Amino acid sequence: MLAEVRGLGRTAVAFRLDTTEFGTFPAFAADVRAALDEHWGRDTFDHLFNNAGSSAMAPVAETTEAQLDSVYAVHFKGPYLLTQTLLPLLADGGRVLNVSTGLTRFTQVDAAPYAAMKGAVEVFTRYLAKELGPRRIAVNAIAPGPTATDFGGGELRDDEAVRQGLASVTAMGHVGDPADIGAAVAALLTDGTGWITGQRIEASGGMLL
Ligand SMILES: NC(=O)c1ccc[n+]([C@@H]2O[C@H](COP(=O)([O-])OP(=O)(O)OC[C@H]3O[C@@H](n4cnc5c(N)ncnc54)[C@H](OP(=O)(O)O)[C@@H]3O)[C@@H](O)[C@H]2O)c1
Repeated sequence: MLAEVRGLGRTAVAFRLDTTEFGTFPAFAADVRAALDEHWGRDTFDHLFNNAGSSAMAPVAETTEAQLDSVYAVHFKGPYLLTQTLLPLLADGGRVLNVSTGLTRFTQVDAAPYAAMKGAVEVFTRYLAKELGPRRIAVNAIAPGPTATDFGGGELRDDEAVRQGLASVTAMGHVGDPADIGAAVAALLTDGTGWITGQRIEASGGMLL
């Protein structure tokens, strides 16, 4: 990934971060600050994209406390505290983009623990948009529909029966590709879309309309 970006003649730096290791966030922020100074000669960055996530599927009746804690840590507590830690480094006029899911609008068997945390992310998004408005920082949540990634063991990419079933209830007639989401993310971070804030934008090819 870094080589790809550098191949385009751009500067890229990466750090390892487990977004459920909350105590490491201040040190991470210090590393980011040092890299901004060293490579870009500035003390702020423009866009924060809270993307990390993993699948945790179970019916309500069978959800364990450990599953609930884990999905809370990665999908809500991590983005909340990481955003809080990085706020002083985020440039006025910048953007925060959180990742939600189509599953906050429609339901699917076993998705309650995961979807409920993403619902919390959407509420957090609106509150943060309100708080950061005076700094002209736009805050939104993109809500992908089923997308062919490694998520959930890769079944949305590899299991043809699952893909067909989802395609049949999607206006565009297929499961999303990572590039479909990448393009939507880029559009929401590009110059000229900063007036959109506090919104949940679904990118699902029109699933279950
Ligand atoms: N695929 C879908 O259908 C779909 C639909 C709606 C929303 N989403 C959301 O989209 C986001 C990206 O998912 P994806 O589909 O791209 O899944 P993915 O292919 O499994 O990628 C998930 C990414 O999150 C990282 N990650 C997970 N836990 C982490 C942690 N504690 N700290 C740091 N990084 C962590 C993973 O890193 P490692 O590779 O190092 O583990 C991986 O890079 C997630 O928030 C997910 O909930 C996905």
